[in-house]
Amino acid sequence: MNAMATIADALLDKYGRQGPRYTSYPPAPAWSEGIGATDLAARLAEIGREPAPPADGLADAELYVHIPFCARLCTFCGCHTFITRERDPVVRWLATLEREADAVARAAGRRLSIGGLHLGGGTPTHLDLEQLAQLLDLLEARFDFAACRERGLEVHPRVTSVAQLDLLRARGFDRLSMGVQDLTPEVQAAIHRDQTADETAALAAHARATGWRSLNVDLVYGLPRQTLAGFARTIEQVLAMGVDRLAVYGYAHVPWLKRQQGAFTESALPDPRLRRDLLELARARLADAGFESIGFDHFARPTDRLFTARAAGSLTRTFMGFTVRHARNLIGLGPSAIGELGPLYAQNEPALAAWEQAVAARGLATRRGWRLSADEALRRDVIRALLCELAVDGAAIGARHGVDFRDHFARELAALREMVTDGLLVVAGARLELTAVGRHLARNVAMAFDPAQHEAGGVKRYSATV
Ligand SMILES: C[S@@+](CC[C@H](N)C(=O)[O-])C[C@H]1O[C@@H](n2cnc3c(N)ncnc32)[C@H](O)[C@@H]1O
Repeated sequence: MNAMATIADALLDKYGRQGPRYTSYPPAPAWSEGIGATDLAARLAEIGREPAPPADGLADAELYVHIPFCARLCTFCGCHTFITRERDPVVRWLATLEREADAVARAAGRRLSIGGLHLGGGTPTHLDLEQLAQLLDLLEARFDFAACRERGLEVHPRVTSVAQLDLLRARGFDRLSMGVQDLTPEVQAAIHRDQTADETAALAAHARATGWRSLNVDLVYGLPRQTLAGFARTIEQVLAMGVDRLAVYGYAHVPWLKRQQGAFTESALPDPRLRRDLLELARARLADAGFESIGFDHFARPTDRLFTARAAGSLTRTFMGFTVRHARNLIGLGPSAIGELGPLYAQNEPALAAWEQAVAARGLATRRGWRLSADEALRRDVIRALLCELAVDGAAIGARHGVDFRDHFARELAALREMVTDGLLVVAGARLELTAVGRHLARNVAMAFDPAQHEAGGVKRYSATV
């Protein structure tokens, strides 16, 4: 599955455009403010009425907790963050999170079983030892973790201590994701990071020695002042740390959403050809080192759960990227957190203060979301299969949704003909399969199934697809 293929310049010019990353379908920027806390409460009550344990062996929900704090701002960052070095905001966040967790548990009406717990941010290890323990205690008091199969978190190695890792390991965490991006000093200076290979390697070594089962590193290509030589060096440094997974994200340049990115002049940013070459450098080197390519931006050792999940059909795509599915629903807690609960997407108030006010007023803090129609649920399955499995079994998906795939998507299949001619995918009856080149352009192929993309008409909403 590791066949590499270069995207020719002509294809890059033709298909390089802005488009969603499809961490959800419909994409989050298209959601509505018409969805609120009452919708989430009603859906939680429905889940609470479903039989426990569910017949399919999956838990009721996975939990995502958003910890927005960082001690300093990385200027490339596209995440929802709150920069502070003070203790008070964290203390208030913890108290608010407890109320929010209470409201979720109350709406569900029974203790929900949790299949996986993920702490994201921001920087979860901005919390000190006592605060981390307090967070885990308050979650365990309200939800049933007996069948929890994975506990993971994101860290910035710079601010993460061995004592924090030990506490988390003792509390069942075994998946560690370290932000690295690029270790080249010039790039770090440009994005306002300050992280050495040695401190990152020391943290990885400690995690390895203390039983963390899956070590991930995030790299980003397309950053200001990035060069092939510097990125190649970073990849070698990271491989020497013995990681199990890597995410190699294309830098999402969205200065209309993230003002600090406006500081990067276009000339400091790699052009599309250099972006492609950086990604291909990573692909080739990681294949050499025995990593399998997952989706279009993740890589995993064949022993890692992310790889085995694909064979088991439990690889999925959420706003956390490509992940293993352990539950039927995803519940988000904390500012900006996104939940995916069957046909309902619900996103919390993104700003810390607004989230605190919403929780104080209503318990739940949903600001916006989307309820999928039957047609949208079908499209979500098609897009997910394209991105996760790199293929769509149209007959099976059609049968699941009660439609004839080829009839239902006649217009889309006609539009795909040009991509077939360009060598991006092969279509045989109701089966679609991305080629090695097409996998780089999977987002473009997915866009053929997203009617909104044909009407988007120049509105700046999304990042570059390649
Ligand atoms: C919350 S951060 C990880 C933890 C920690 N705060 C850190 O910076 O090391 C999540 C990850 O998102 C990715 N990311 C953030 N902003 C991005 C952007 N604009 N484009 C692409 N990836 C981005 C980075 O790889 C980053 O490690």
